[in-house]
Amino acid sequence: MASHKGRIAVVTGGASGIGLATVEVLAKQGAVVIAVDRDEAKLADLSGRENIHPLLGDVTDTNTWDKIVSYAKSDLSGVPTLFVSNAAIVTVGSILELTDEDWHQVLSVNLMGSVYGTRALLPGMIEVGGGSIVLMGSIDAHMAEQGLAAYCASKGAILQLSKVLAMDHARQGVRVNCVCPGVTDTPLFRYHLSKADDPESVLNMRTDRNPLGRLLAPEDVAKTVNFLLSDDAAGITGALVPVDAGLSTSFDFRSGEEWGDMA
Ligand SMILES: NC(=O)c1ccc[n+]([C@@H]2O[C@H](COP(=O)([O-])OP(=O)(O)OC[C@H]3O[C@@H](n4cnc5c(N)ncnc54)[C@H](O)[C@@H]3O)[C@@H](O)[C@H]2O)c1
Repeated sequence: MASHKGRIAVVTGGASGIGLATVEVLAKQGAVVIAVDRDEAKLADLSGRENIHPLLGDVTDTNTWDKIVSYAKSDLSGVPTLFVSNAAIVTVGSILELTDEDWHQVLSVNLMGSVYGTRALLPGMIEVGGGSIVLMGSIDAHMAEQGLAAYCASKGAILQLSKVLAMDHARQGVRVNCVCPGVTDTPLFRYHLSKADDPESVLNMRTDRNPLGRLLAPEDVAKTVNFLLSDDAAGITGALVPVDAGLSTSFDFRSGEEWGDMA
């Protein structure tokens, strides 16, 4: 695996779940990683760890982005050339249930966070000759999940944003890809699960429905992000990369024993 030695990375939502696993993988691969999160308590756990620089901030606040750029310049003497826009929130509800406030919150974190972040970091990447960006999509970027109207809309927008960014900035040496995780065992997933009438049976159903027969671990996604950011993926831009245990591949997956009965 290609090393990230000498590179500065920014990962949003870096204190939990997929973001935290990504911070850890990138740091292990030699990147100096700025882990941005609004959760001060979780961020504190990252203090003092090799190659990891926790930074308290909110991705919807442009001041946070100014702070990140100046921190990289003054404290790390460089420009971030790797960016993972990962922070997101989920609000459960159909269009008739969600309020304007719900829509604004979801779109401002899940979509505008990526817009502000890319707008802040892209100029530096272009100036130094290139960089690599991963926007965190979801299986919900291209498939519908009932009761998640705002979340699905935000992730669909992220998918298209990734593709446009990839085309607009390809000749400036910046690659942009969209990773689309399936059901991944993180605090966000557990929160969504807790909203179900019968969380245990939903968990079993979600696990069984995955062709690989298990939930994804945050590391499964983080390793794919790491690959896409690295020079090993130098030929990949504008891609939608599912990391979903096969879930989006088939509309009607059955385990071997079951389809044997149908043959
Ligand atoms: N877990 C899944 O099943 C799953 C599936 C598909 C896609 N995803 C995507 O993966 C990404 C990470 O999700 P996760 O499951 O690891 O979630 P998580 O809740 O475990 O972690 C998200 C982190 O983002 C931070 N955050 C939220 N809003 C923020 C803001 N405004 N500013 C700064 N930080 C903020 C939270 O504090 C948290 O630490 C998200 O983009 C999510 O949509 C997750």
